Amino acid sequence: DLGLGHSSKGLNWESVQPNTLDQITVPPGFQQDVVVRWGDPILPGAPKFDFDNQTPEAQAQQFGFNNDFCGLVPVPGDPNSWLMVSNHEYTTESFMFKDWSPTTITEKHAKIAWAAHGLSVVMVDRDPRTGKLFVCPDDKAKYNRRITLTTPFEVRGPAAGSKYLQTSADPTGRTVLGTQNNCSGGVTPWGTILSGEENFNQYFANASLVTDPDTKAKFARYGISGGASLRKWENFDKRFDLSKEPNEANRFGWIVEIDPLDKKSTPVKHTALGRFKHEGANIIVAKDGRVVAYMGDDERFDYMYKFVSDEKMQKGDSKRAREHNKRLLDKGTLYVAQFTGDSPAAEIDGAGNLPADGQFDGSGKWIPLAAGDKSFVPGFTAEEVYVFTRLAADKVGATKMDRPEDVEPSLHNRRIYAALTNNTDRGKAGKEGPTEIAPRVNNKHGHVLEIEERRSDNTALTFSWKLLLVCGDPKDPGTYFGGYDKSQVSAISCPDNVAFDNHGNLWISTDGNALGSNDGLFAVPVEGKRRGLVKQFLTVPKGAETCGPVVTEDFVLVSVQHPGEIDGASANNPLSHWPDGGTSQPRPSVAVVWRKDRRRICD
Ligand code: FEO
Ligand code: CA
Ligand code: CA
Ligand code: CA
Repeated sequence: DLGLGHSSKGLNWESVQPNTLDQITVPPGFQQDVVVRWGDPILPGAPKFDFDNQTPEAQAQQFGFNNDFCGLVPVPGDPNSWLMVSNHEYTTESFMFKDWSPTTITEKHAKIAWAAHGLSVVMVDRDPRTGKLFVCPDDKAKYNRRITLTTPFEVRGPAAGSKYLQTSADPTGRTVLGTQNNCSGGVTPWGTILSGEENFNQYFANASLVTDPDTKAKFARYGISGGASLRKWENFDKRFDLSKEPNEANRFGWIVEIDPLDKKSTPVKHTALGRFKHEGANIIVAKDGRVVAYMGDDERFDYMYKFVSDEKMQKGDSKRAREHNKRLLDKGTLYVAQFTGDSPAAEIDGAGNLPADGQFDGSGKWIPLAAGDKSFVPGFTAEEVYVFTRLAADKVGATKMDRPEDVEPSLHNRRIYAALTNNTDRGKAGKEGPTEIAPRVNNKHGHVLEIEERRSDNTALTFSWKLLLVCGDPKDPGTYFGGYDKSQVSAISCPDNVAFDNHGNLWISTDGNALGSNDGLFAVPVEGKRRGLVKQFLTVPKGAETCGPVVTEDFVLVSVQHPGEIDGASANNPLSHWPDGGTSQPRPSVAVVWRKDRRRICD
């Protein structure tokens, strides 16, 4: 017993009802504001956003497009200031430009998109009188930074310099220009940001022209195929053409680390954490001081991983401790998860009805893949395990999951919570059928998994697990809400990102709500009598995905990604006008929500 249990405090608001409105809807008594929008000036002296006359130079100084993860790092010495770090996952050119189409792509479109990818570091202040959060003025914004698809990254860890990472522009295999498709992430205990390079496959062209069968098979396992790419960047930079630079794709798909407190620092790509479609990475300090990163590979039937560092974290924020801690992810052991159910397979009916023991639950183990130069996978060198992690994990009996997105340890109970967003291929002809860890065929609504490591030791090699939520409409008998009375809970579909408040309640944002209304943000106690009581906290505007929730005592931040992304919409036919209203173009943004009476969020 960690002495923290049974707190289901907070969450005292009237649940928001499902809707399809073009706004953020919050419970009575709360208010909201936009903190920063796509195109807002970030670097000192940056030009104002001009939708009709955007340039690469302006975009490189402004907030990027389609912000997903958001993390806050406190500014030393100022309790009302934070560095807010956002991931800019992808560009949607048809929403960014009126003159873009697959046949009218110019170099300028491409260069604006390169500058709209990456990350933003934005200093924000909170006015303690009003509760409002705002972007600091230029003279205070000394940490502000843009990282784009042309920013140099240092490759570190055991596969740095690998022959699989060498290109004609970088024969050392140690310096990569840029990061892309940064989806979710995490704030480390030493105050840096981790960010996952996810669907990097879509940016590379002409895998179809590559003839070497081994290279082709590796591309295929990572979803890299076909001729021209959607954005046709290969026309403007040959590194995106795999027939010319077949290793360039191997330089993406990593966890990257950014130190927002050191503007001059070179961002890092961590090969020790493996290469796959990284959703994100979240760290907990184990009881012995080593650090453990939990990670999901967001693809149907792909895997969950963890990394355990060799060295221990040093406490304190001295320069020496920070520099030591920023090396922790260079050396350690990478594992993949294997789950076993404890109910007879015949009791898993594919519809989500509970087996006779009343739980989807069981045990599991962490299978080692590699540690430093040592591979544990027959037929793979350590270097191959790191660069082609999916293929190595295929060999060792890893469990196929329903799209593992955020996997995050709770600092309150040391358990790990994972969002399995959906998998409509589960049970299709030729695909794996239902299992206790993935109990529904045609899984449209996803589920939330809870893992408890043996003896609450995050470095352990075995664990027990339970499904906390089997999502969907609570009226559907194939749903489960931690055993709570389903007549009391909010419907939830397609969990994607998770976070915790200071009572240890789990917050869940959704992407792709298959119940027909807008996506949103939910909270649920994981301890005590109210375990499983899911309550909806907000909904986002139509066409948007809810991402990157940050829950502090005083406010909640949400990333509103791709507002107006609806069939038939484009810059010439916008179907959302959020946040600026009127006839404006929709703009991905970070929004803040707080209580009007200034009480704490979870009072
Ligand atoms: Fe970018 Fe897995 O969501
Ligand atoms: Ca069971
Ligand atoms: Ca996601
Ligand atoms: Ca998503």
